Amino acid sequence: MTTDEIIDLLTEAYIDELETVMNYRTNAIVLDGIHAEEVKESLEEDIQEELDHARILGERLKQLDESPPGSESFEANQHSLQPPEDTTDVQSVIEGVLEAEEAAIETYRSLVEAADDANDPVTEDVAVTILADEEAHRTEFRGFQKEFPMD
Ligand SMILES: [Fe+2]
Ligand SMILES: [Fe+2]
Repeated sequence: MTTDEIIDLLTEAYIDELETVMNYRTNAIVLDGIHAEEVKESLEEDIQEELDHARILGERLKQLDESPPGSESFEANQHSLQPPEDTTDVQSVIEGVLEAEEAAIETYRSLVEAADDANDPVTEDVAVTILADEEAHRTEFRGFQKEFPMD
């Protein structure tokens, strides 16, 4: 059974995915330097996955007789993912990505719990599937965090 909490979490997650796409897209373009290439490549791959997450969440909302939101309900949250003033500051983007992935992981954990409580296994499955992707993204960027020197 659907609850308001499930609809709210699906909607919030949908918006967050699209904000993530915007900031990963921007940072994959702006970063410069020899340390940036691997991170940019990784961001390119993740953009496609985050976009796919938004699609899956939007389709689940539709199945629950709700609509995914348009841009007017958008509120920006990812302050640490704004493109760095110093375009060689790869570390700040890595930190921003880790923050975004942590936030996503928290949201999908809440969604798993809410869906379990409401006996909504389909939404739970959606949340678990996406959660696994976000944990993989986090692992990838934790690796970069170890590899790239702090300035
Ligand atoms: Fe995602
Ligand atoms: Fe992610």
